[in-house]
Amino acid sequence: MLKGGKVGLRARHEDDIPVLRAELHGDVVTHARAEGRPWRPVTPGAEDGPFTVDDTDQRNVPFSVVELAGGALVGSAVLWDIDTHNRSAHAGLGLLPSARGKGYGTDVVAVLCHYGFVVRGLHRLQIETLADNTAMLRAAERNGFVREGVLRSSAWVMGEFLDEVLLGLLARDWTPDARR
Ligand SMILES: CC(C)(COP(=O)(O)OP(=O)(O)OC[C@H]1O[C@@H](n2cnc3c(N)ncnc32)[C@H](O)[C@@H]1OP(=O)(O)O)[C@@H](O)C(=O)NCCC(=O)NCCS
Repeated sequence: MLKGGKVGLRARHEDDIPVLRAELHGDVVTHARAEGRPWRPVTPGAEDGPFTVDDTDQRNVPFSVVELAGGALVGSAVLWDIDTHNRSAHAGLGLLPSARGKGYGTDVVAVLCHYGFVVRGLHRLQIETLADNTAMLRAAERNGFVREGVLRSSAWVMGEFLDEVLLGLLARDWTPDARR
């Protein structure tokens, strides 16, 4: 397990899947705002639905997020579209509603940076989020990500197009204790 100050990132366990599906995927608005794909219902127990892990997939590394104190599941995090030529990847995360606003998201981003830069030797990490997702923007910026641009009307979200912000962080600009 990779440890931050408050949370740990570990492998996905079988019994995490129904919880993540119910509390994250089951929330249609959160899904629409975070995923960039159309929501559709998932049959309980489906073997290839959301949050199922394919260990042979080299480009995407999913984690379950747990509280260090007690080990309770609090969310999901992923380094996705890992590009070993350009040594870049995207970071994403989603916390259960009861776990939000406690500093966990900021800590998860820090651990994903550690995984990306230290464990994987990547050069650049990127995050895309809706321009009104203040919590995600702050969690990224607290870790040193900088806003590189606005993708105008790039996300179709529940009946309207919304802007996304593109944030990037280079390994040379990252300091492990950037969280302030
Ligand atoms: C986005 C998310 C991962 C952030 O994690 P979090 O644990 O809630 O955020 P933190 O507690 O670390 O807070 C980060 C910052 O945002 C602020 N913040 C937290 N919740 C906020 C809210 N609802 N509105 C405005 N600001 C908020 C905090 O005060 C903190 O600011 P600071 O650094 O200036 O003190 C989490 O809220 C979440 O899972 N949301 C739903 C899914 C989602 O949007 N995922 C991202 C898709 S790109």
